[in-house]
Amino acid sequence: MEVIIRPTREDASWLVARIIERAVRSNPHIVLGLATGRTMERLYAMLAQLHKDEGLDFSLCQTFNLDEYVDLPPTDKNSYRFYMNQHLFSKVNIDFRNTYLPNGMAPDLEDECERYEARIQACGGIDLQLLGIGRSGHIGFNEPLSALQSRTRKKALTPLTIRENSTQFDNPLRMPKRAITMGVGTILECKRSVVLVTGKSKAAVLAKAVEGPITSMVTASALQLYPRCTVVVDQDAATELEGTEYYHWIFENEPEWEAYR
Ligand code: F6R
Repeated sequence: MEVIIRPTREDASWLVARIIERAVRSNPHIVLGLATGRTMERLYAMLAQLHKDEGLDFSLCQTFNLDEYVDLPPTDKNSYRFYMNQHLFSKVNIDFRNTYLPNGMAPDLEDECERYEARIQACGGIDLQLLGIGRSGHIGFNEPLSALQSRTRKKALTPLTIRENSTQFDNPLRMPKRAITMGVGTILECKRSVVLVTGKSKAAVLAKAVEGPITSMVTASALQLYPRCTVVVDQDAATELEGTEYYHWIFENEPEWEAYR
């Protein structure tokens, strides 16, 4: 794992946008794993800008989102399908038929989860997985106590996640209490992952995920097991990290980061 600290959330988001840009340009058929949430809105606006101003081409990409609420139709403005269409898919030249999210309206959710896993496999697996971290320590919606080998499944959301995300709903009581999410095991099979975390409210959980013990109580800590994980954070999110001097040194001195400095 490597941690990169940028001064502002704008800088952190740009760095992740540039990582994704390079990956897409070097492999136009890339399979991207995508996340939703407030942190990603700025990043998706940047990718849309790179498409518009610098011709970043998504036409051959395929995408798999991490999660979707159970019982929200794709037309609902709080569904993650709606979010993705609004923030990214409608702003770039991706073929909508190549964009996948779990179907939280499926009559048989277990079958839907199995089919989602099979679809990821059929596309050759995820090349680059984008992740955020929730205040409960989740990646995707892998809430505390999710098995670190879990697969795509239905998951009950914690009261903290419900409090955090219900503010996005006109009527907070309408927020679903369950979601379909890729499992921690599913996520760890991707070839590379990039995690974007910004803001003071994430400082404590980020420190647990990156520097704490690996535990299912903070599923993001499972990323420590994973060979190719880059965590990009802003200064606010980095305030509770202990190893910042080392992290800064890596970014300033390692040749692979030269193009991003
Ligand atoms: C959503 C997802 C979640 C979010 C996390 C952070 O698809 O994967 O793990 O990344 O809840 O959300 P924000 O950015 O809203 O704090």
